Order: sequence, then C-alpha cells, then structure tokens
Amino acid sequence: MIDIQRIRKETRGCKNILHLNNAGSSLTSAPVQDYLNNYLNKDAELGGYETADLYKADLDNFYLAAAKAVNGKPSEIAFIENATRAWDMVFYAFDWKPGDILLTSVTDYNSNMVAYIHAKERFGMDFIAIPNDEYGQLDVEALEKAITSDVKLIAISHIPTNSGLVNPIEQVGIIAKKHNIPFLLDACQSVGQMPIDVKKIGCDMLSTTGRKYIRGPRGTGFLWVSENWVEKLNPPFLDNHAAPWVTPDSYEILPNAKRFENWERYFGGQAALGIALDYMMDVGAENIWQRIQFLASRLRDGLSNIDGVTLWDPGQQKCGLVTFTKENVNASKAKLKLRENHVHVSASGTQLTRPEQREAGITETIRASVHYYNTEEEIDHFINVMRNFTTD
Ligand SMILES: Cc1ncc(COP(=O)(O)O)c(C=O)c1O
Repeated sequence: MIDIQRIRKETRGCKNILHLNNAGSSLTSAPVQDYLNNYLNKDAELGGYETADLYKADLDNFYLAAAKAVNGKPSEIAFIENATRAWDMVFYAFDWKPGDILLTSVTDYNSNMVAYIHAKERFGMDFIAIPNDEYGQLDVEALEKAITSDVKLIAISHIPTNSGLVNPIEQVGIIAKKHNIPFLLDACQSVGQMPIDVKKIGCDMLSTTGRKYIRGPRGTGFLWVSENWVEKLNPPFLDNHAAPWVTPDSYEILPNAKRFENWERYFGGQAALGIALDYMMDVGAENIWQRIQFLASRLRDGLSNIDGVTLWDPGQQKCGLVTFTKENVNASKAKLKLRENHVHVSASGTQLTRPEQREAGITETIRASVHYYNTEEEIDHFINVMRNFTTD
C-alpha cells in the first residue's frame, strides 16, 4: 500500500494547492526536483559536456528505468522530448504511399489527427477513424472489419486527452497480431497511471511523456519500439548520433531505438526522468492504479449528486481523468476562478474527438484529473466547492 503521508511530504506542491491537473502536468516529487536542480546547477558550474560525463550512470539508468516501466528492453528505448515527437518519429518512419490505410479511433489525440491529415495530403495515404461502440470506447469489432491488405498501421490512443475513457487496447493488440499489422500505442496518459506491459498489450511501438502521470520534468518523453520493428523503420530524420557518419558518403544507422533520438537534448531532464520512473516503480504501478481508480470514482460519485452536473466519461473502464460540465459554468472561466483559490483543473476542449459532446453543443468540459497523492479530503473539498459553483 502507498504511504500517502510520506508521498505528500515529498511533494512540495501538496502543501499549498489542490492539484487536479495531473493529466496536464503533475507535481514532481522533491527527490526528482532536487535531483534536477542539482544537475542544472552542475551544468552551470562545470559545463554541459562535463556534467553529462559526471552523470553518465544516471543518463544510462534512464534506459533501464523506461524499459522496466513498460516491460521492454533498454535497447528498445529512445529519449525524446515529448510524446508527440516520439509518436511522430515512428509514424513518419513508415513509407506511406497512395493506397495505404491507417486505422485509428475517433478519440485519437488531436496532434495525431493532424499528422494523419498531413500524411494524407503529402503521401496520398488515407486513414479511417473507427467509431465507438455502445459504451463509447473503440469498437474493436468494427476495427477488425475495417482490416484489408492495404492497412499498414493501427494507431490508437490508450486514454484520450479529454476524457476518462480507457480504450480496450489488449483486444486491439490481439487483432493486430492476428492480421500481422503493426500497432502504435499513444500511451501518453497511461504510463504512470496504470501498469503498462507492452507484451501483454501486444503493441509494437509506444510513445509517452514525462510530465503527466510519471511525474517527470517537462520537456521529456520516450519512445519504445519493439526490437522486431526497430531495424525495419527508417526515421524521418537522422543526425550523427542516430546514424554515425562513417565514410564521406555513408552512415551507419544505429541498430537500436536510439536511431530515433537527437544528439542534443535535455540531459538533466533525461536523468531526472529516470529518477521519476524509479520513484514511480517504487510506489508500484498497480498500487497507483488502484488508488487513482478509487479517488476518481469517489469524485464521479460526488459530482453526480450535484444538480446541473453532467459527467462525460465514456467506456467500460474509466481512469483518473474526470470530465464534466455544470449548468451556468463556463469551463475556461471555472479553471481561472478555481486557480485563484489554489484549486487546479483544466478546461478540456471537445477538439473534434468527442462527437457526443459536439451533438450536445458542448465545446469544453472541466477536466479534474486525480493522481495517487491526492486525498479523499481533497476530493470531498472539490465536490463541495463545485456544489454551489458558478461562473456567472
Ligand atoms: C493522449 C495524448 N497523446 C499525446 C499527447 C501529447 O503529449 P506531449 O504534449 O508530451 O507531446 C497528449 C497530451 O496531452 C495526450 O493527452
């Protein structure tokens, strides 16, 4: 079980704020923040290259920690500055041609949708956004029915950015394997929120970010690519780290996931992300997931008893992102008003990915996203605040 008092002592932000914006960016723990600050101070005192040499073991530890966090191998990990770019490095590594099809879901992340449209315009490929089933989650039967010999990639967001839905991705993995189609998982909101095992899920590539549920620094993220796929994928750009220049007119591309990396990067962030991943695994992914579900369901129950509140989280399995609207409450204004009172939520845009909200004329919801360091008292306080809350 989690020692919440210890965790909160080690989370300085918990002293003064009620942070329910963990799906945006969570609070780093003191050990991670102190580590990062020390690293950056050393950069200033010693110089960046010398500091990186000094911290080599920790920079290497990042690969071990990231691999352990998703049950992959260190050679399958690339450090990348955010989830979008990590995802891009794989998506654009496919040799898209006219007639190729990509299958995704209607709830996929908005930047991924932009990339599909971009690739459609540039390469003449096409994509199909599979609709949701009666529970509001990806319809896996429809996904399987859409498979043809033209389907080159399945790309699904595990948890969308703007709801508490958890897509049934293990079923997607089974379908992808059965039809021998690679499966790219956007796990930006799920790594650090629940146990992630790429073998159980059956995905071939996974992207995620540091600052959300992992509680790492901003400007960090990583990519996992199965060793079965690494050497088949040609990154959209290369540098002398990803592909050392060996003769005047040739290079040797790395045989591991580092082929997707930049040479220059946020070194302190990489080492600190490794520390954050270790911290997360010490707390325990299953413990974290149990607690998040407990707190989120307490929050949903409480909000559902307030007049004028509508909850918007679809799916059979729900997570720590709680999205809702309230009559006479504008989500953007609510975010700012709550912030003045040290309560942090975000206003989550419908972003074209929530057909049911568009039909209801809803353009944004309040997204209150819990993490394991939140307490029952905080949840109850937030419910009480919302009871008489208005932005009129
Ligand atoms: C589902 C999902 N995918 C991708 C991203 C993008 O992550 P990043 O901002 O680290 O690129 C987000 C961010 O909110 C997200 O929620």
